[in-house]
Amino acid sequence: MDKFRIKGGKALRGTVAISGAKNSALPVMAAALLTAEKVTLHNIPKVRDLITMSKLLAFMHANVSVTEFPSSHYVIEAPKLNHAEAPYELVKTMRASVLTLGPLMARVGMARVSLPGGCAIGARPVDLHLKALEQMGAEIGTSHGYIEARALKGRLKGAHIVFEKITVTGTENILMAAALADGETVLENAAREPEVTDLVVMLRKMGAQIEGDGTPTLRIRGVEKLHGTEHTVIPDRIEAGTFLVAGAITAGDLTITHCAPEHLGAVRAKLEQAGAHVEIVNETTMRVRGAKKLVGADVATEEYPGFATDMQAQFMALATQAEGTSVITEKIFENRFLHASEMIRMGANISIDGHTAVVHGPAQLSGTTVQASDLRASAGLVLAGLVANGEMLIERVYHIDRGYERIVEKLRGVGADIERVHGA
Ligand code: EPZ
Repeated sequence: MDKFRIKGGKALRGTVAISGAKNSALPVMAAALLTAEKVTLHNIPKVRDLITMSKLLAFMHANVSVTEFPSSHYVIEAPKLNHAEAPYELVKTMRASVLTLGPLMARVGMARVSLPGGCAIGARPVDLHLKALEQMGAEIGTSHGYIEARALKGRLKGAHIVFEKITVTGTENILMAAALADGETVLENAAREPEVTDLVVMLRKMGAQIEGDGTPTLRIRGVEKLHGTEHTVIPDRIEAGTFLVAGAITAGDLTITHCAPEHLGAVRAKLEQAGAHVEIVNETTMRVRGAKKLVGADVATEEYPGFATDMQAQFMALATQAEGTSVITEKIFENRFLHASEMIRMGANISIDGHTAVVHGPAQLSGTTVQASDLRASAGLVLAGLVANGEMLIERVYHIDRGYERIVEKLRGVGADIERVHGA
């Protein structure tokens, strides 16, 4: 298993180009199952989760070919889907495999998808996806750890669905299912994340009739057939946010290119509250400069456009370096503070009470061996390592490889002392 070795203390300076959004690439790849025609996707980041998604589509007998220019281009063709199944072997490595449920139900009227178990950050059930599909006329059972779903008369029908709780992949699954359903679906309390909107943009190009993207109510009029298309996924706002924090925490000066500043409003506001200088240079470029002194700022994670739970660990690393108290409240997942105990081992002053972490800073962190527990926790630990005294070793970095493209190379490019230690 690979590790990262980091020697902290370098101010990061220079330019970093942001990759395509993993959490956009996943649903748009799944959406390629909705048509027999060719779908070409650009700006797909080279990260492990997308390799897993390719394997999953190939398992269902779709053809997936990948061409690499500066970023990956995928061509997906699913002329026949005669294996509507997401097997446990793939689902256990990537919960987002459940994104194939909606498209399979829409295209072939049946699906067998392994139930994703809990994961490090919480129980993460998919009950809301299933309930919504039932409302659309699916008969759903579970057997031997698999969701077995079948549309009555082979085609889902439109329905009025109100999500009890906002769910990102749930919204995406129902959007895809409804695109080919018989009649109109109205989805209330839908997620408004930019990745959901990106999926809507792509589905529309395929011929879907959808209104309301970016609002909590989506209206989808099902069509008989969708066709092939070409689509470029949006920039990864979490990768961009992570680099903004990297610039701020190291008192550096980073220019972040190929990003979408309009998706980073909440992160920008919190960084400024903490004393960092964040500038929107143009439509795709931001610049962050660290302050001599960072100050504590409270953060509560929320659905978009609120502060993303996927940025919470990175912000906690920043809070350890800020003067005063930062109260960090995690409102989306029940167990997303595993990075805190590792930061405490590095010398951070953090106390946890349920969903709230209270961070007193600044603390001089010292390098030690830490364990990455999930994707964003790993990013938080990398940031902590960038300001720690001495050498830091991060184990289980396969978590970070799931969602950050070439993070070691990108950080080295702006002056960080970080290396990957292979298979140690
Ligand atoms: C998406 O996960 C992202 N994954 C996550 O990114 C992100 O953290 C999360 O949204 C929240 O923004 C992808 O887009 C592939 P949810 P998702 O359904 O869709 C509860 C990363 O690091 N819930 O919006 O699985 C759930 O348990 C990842 O890139 C139910 O109770 O999250 C959670 O508490 C990690 N029943 C809350 O809703 C359901 O049926 C929000 O989860 C569905 C969800």
